[in-house]
Amino acid sequence: MADTTLMDKIVSLCKRRGFIFQSSEIYGGLGSVWDYGPLGVELKKNVKDRWWRAMVHARDDIEGLDAAILMHPKVWEASGHVAGFTDPLVDCKTCKARFRADKIQDAQCPQKPSKKPGEHTTCELTAPRMFNLMFKTFMGPVEESAAVVYLRPETAQGIYVNYLNVLQGSRQKVPFGIAQIGKAFRNEITPGNFIFRTREFEQMEMQFFVKPGTDTEWFEHWREWRMAWHHALGLNPAKLRWHEHGPGELAHYAKAAYDIEYEFPFGWNEIEGIHNRTDFDLQRHQTFSGKKLDYFDQPNNERFVPFVVETSAGADRVTLTTLVDAYREEQVEGETRVVLGFHPSVAPIKVGVFPLVKKDGMPEYATRLYHEIKQHVNAFYDDSGAVGRRYRRMDEAGTPFCVTVDGQTLTDGTVTVRHRDTMTQDRVASDRLKGWVKERTEG
Ligand code: GAP
Repeated sequence: MADTTLMDKIVSLCKRRGFIFQSSEIYGGLGSVWDYGPLGVELKKNVKDRWWRAMVHARDDIEGLDAAILMHPKVWEASGHVAGFTDPLVDCKTCKARFRADKIQDAQCPQKPSKKPGEHTTCELTAPRMFNLMFKTFMGPVEESAAVVYLRPETAQGIYVNYLNVLQGSRQKVPFGIAQIGKAFRNEITPGNFIFRTREFEQMEMQFFVKPGTDTEWFEHWREWRMAWHHALGLNPAKLRWHEHGPGELAHYAKAAYDIEYEFPFGWNEIEGIHNRTDFDLQRHQTFSGKKLDYFDQPNNERFVPFVVETSAGADRVTLTTLVDAYREEQVEGETRVVLGFHPSVAPIKVGVFPLVKKDGMPEYATRLYHEIKQHVNAFYDDSGAVGRRYRRMDEAGTPFCVTVDGQTLTDGTVTVRHRDTMTQDRVASDRLKGWVKERTEG
């Protein structure tokens, strides 16, 4: 059963503390488009940095890429998106609402009292029509069909059309992969659940090019490695599971597909897909472009079009997962303590720095320490209100450590370090603090 209260609390905390805001809020908002505030942008960047480190820097066989959002319109004909990236859509002629025909049982008619679409006597639903999810725009000054371009609905195609360029420039050999993080756009009919399903989002995708016949083995490796990555992010393993796509669910390009699902307050839902895309995309691009996209395997003197194993995660969905997984409320001394217990490597602020009181040279010492440590990790200075209140504010932001400069600091150079999760305190020499925090907050 959906825990709407928990989601409401998370959405409200995200707005209050500057994680995530509705886009164009002063104009009433734009449907399912969200902006990341100061803490949100740090959190999402840390998630993306961890992915990039694991997928590109830590491996010898994967190269990075940043392809443009706008691509030649033929790309989307070749990929099958122009013909097939559609959802069945039902309109209500009375209230003008739109519903996905395959999800109508979960939808609500906007008329009151609350009922399902079609259940009010005044409802007048149309027959389902296919609706393409790609956003269209025009390139150049003339708005005509010859000038149509699309905002990419997935980043993967930028990788396929560049695979030979990367191969030549990097001197990689099959098997090898190309990784990319970037925006994707889908005109979703029923978006929702905060940043779970949005119309503009970021994907972290990797396409691994392999010799046909070895694809199943690589697919299994990637399944294992990707689940391990989510575990290493500190997510609760009991809330992660596999969902295998049955024959009716498989995308047009896939021979096999598994989703990694997380148990959100609104139920189990996909956060990443691992797909065996075969040679579908490269073959189609070869046909549509007229350019050869095969690979020459020199040692074995053979040519083949590689098969592709894809790992495709949503940066926003993983960010939402870290927020939901981290959120907890505890009773401490008769008060509710709200904590975001992030893995330290994704926490937006790594350390809060406070003077115990605003006198006796403590603010000057703390300010110096703050400026020094800020050159290495994201830090926050706070001297307003009681220290207990400052701790609570940092708990809500998910800051793993808080450092207080007190009377003892002025005599022996040590500071108090308070741990977010246990609320216990240590004393650390202030000249060792930078290394101490870095060691504990790097991924
Ligand atoms: N290239 C394959 C592909 O795009 P997908 O299952 O459609 O596959 C992959 O999307 C991932 O992208 C999903 O697991 C999800 O994390 C993210 N994603 C897809 N649609 C999204 C949306 N409307 N809002 C936020 N994230 C989305």
